[in-house]
Amino acid sequence: MKKIILALIVIVVAVGSCAKKSTPTAAKEVAIDATSVFGKNCARCHGAEGVKDSRTPNLQTIALDKAGLVKSITYGKGHMPAFQDNLNTAEIAAVADLIVGWHTK
Ligand code: HEC
Repeated sequence: MKKIILALIVIVVAVGSCAKKSTPTAAKEVAIDATSVFGKNCARCHGAEGVKDSRTPNLQTIALDKAGLVKSITYGKGHMPAFQDNLNTAEIAAVADLIVGWHTK
């Protein structure tokens, strides 16, 4: 009797773990609209397209590669606030790509 119960438990556990594995993982990734992220978080200081006034550097001509942009956006610089608590790494990378794209305009 004990063996039968044990076997049943093994079967239930095995079936249970199989069921878990076959459950499709929902794709939570939502495409990031970098222009919108920039508009909401950066445009008030930098202008909608990265150029505003003498208080902020011209982001269309700034000599920073993507890694440098990500670093400055993540940790801030001078009067530029850090965004590590407000934007996730994917959003920061998308905004950096947007700025790199302006460079080649
Ligand atoms: C509160 C105003 C403000 C906001 C908001 C802001 N910035 Fe800045 N940003 C600045 C200022 C001021 C500087 C110049 C900092 C310095 O060199 O001392 C700067 C500098 C930069 C630089 C150059 C940094 C460097 O290493 O030379 C980049 C790139 C940049 N900002 C991107 C962004 C992006 C992208 C956002 C939005 C996610 C953003 N900024 C939001 C004010 C702002």
